[in-house]
Amino acid sequence: MNRIYLDNAATTPMDRAVIDAMLPMMESSFGNPSSIHTHGREVRNTIERARKSIAGLLNTSPAEIFFTSGGTEADNTAIVRSIEDFGITHAITSRLEHHAVLHTLEYMAKKGKIKLSYVELDDKGHIDLTHLEVLLRDNPKTLVSLMHGNNEIGNLLDLNVVGQLCEDYVAIFHSDTVQTMAHYRHDLQQLKIDFLVGAAHKFHGPKGIGFLYINAKNKITPFIHGGSQERNMRGGTENVYGIVGLAKALEIAYSGMDEHRKHVEALKARMIHRLSTELDGIEFNGDSANLERSLYTVLNVSFPPSEEADMFLFNLDINKISASGGSACTSGSDIGSHVLTALNVSPERPSVRFSFSKYNTVEEIDYVVDKLVSILKVTA
Ligand SMILES: Cc1ncc(COP(=O)(O)O)c(C=O)c1O
Repeated sequence: MNRIYLDNAATTPMDRAVIDAMLPMMESSFGNPSSIHTHGREVRNTIERARKSIAGLLNTSPAEIFFTSGGTEADNTAIVRSIEDFGITHAITSRLEHHAVLHTLEYMAKKGKIKLSYVELDDKGHIDLTHLEVLLRDNPKTLVSLMHGNNEIGNLLDLNVVGQLCEDYVAIFHSDTVQTMAHYRHDLQQLKIDFLVGAAHKFHGPKGIGFLYINAKNKITPFIHGGSQERNMRGGTENVYGIVGLAKALEIAYSGMDEHRKHVEALKARMIHRLSTELDGIEFNGDSANLERSLYTVLNVSFPPSEEADMFLFNLDINKISASGGSACTSGSDIGSHVLTALNVSPERPSVRFSFSKYNTVEEIDYVVDKLVSILKVTA
């Protein structure tokens, strides 16, 4: 058995067709897209074709798509620019957000720009919508930043419901959609959302490229000062190869989405079933075992405490399995998962996030479960 990669929420292998789309840009289309001669104009057209394709898939206008270096930059931009440009004085988020969101909001709160509220969670880690409404009612000029799919436990948020609440209370709504982009369809004519983000490396595209959707009703000031690229909003020569790869990866994802989803969902269901029936003391963190309310790409498993708990991931690694995880932070320490800590998972229990892609197979899942069973039988 070759090495098995079950860490697709961290990053995904590139699709060969994406590499093939990028290569000619590296080999021959090297012009600077800002140059007015033919070399430049050709590349400019390629960038605009990519933007149009992405906008088309998301059912929106190309003018609302801004290329960034990835999810972190897109999240930072949405948060900082809406606070600075729209007179936002209060933000609502949850303790389960990615650090690209949490650290940015905490920084803005520390600087005295906003008051920050954390919405309460239920025991599975879902947002308490009643509490969200109370926070919205009590605070005008609010930014709501809540992720669509959690990168550690997979919990899904209903963007329609939160979008409607934000509209009712005239709040700005940003959602970190890094883990759902290209895995679920986002129809921007239907969604009531101000900012949404994507990162190509989470859907078989290249690293270091992503985008930010900014609803046309929101007029922001530049997020990187410099040249006139990205309609004066983000100076700097464009990552042309990345942009081409991003658009191609999104096109491939959209065209095969239903088929891939069915395949990956079946792998996840098989792993849940086998782990639950073959191992004692297994739990699933958050709502990750609920196929309706969690990402089909993520399963977060909590194993019984054992002396070898710290060595658990290392043990998987020497058995040719790449996955990620850890445990909740122990008291007074920042090392560990802030998500599992917020969910009160015991730090004694090792947790592993298995995350799947279209390239994984049933044989791989069976191999991983067999190995887990033998590792745990040895350590028991
Ligand atoms: C939910 C979420 N948001 C943001 C990011 C950051 O994306 P990038 O690595 O493209 O900056 C990640 C990547 O791990 C993520 O999973």
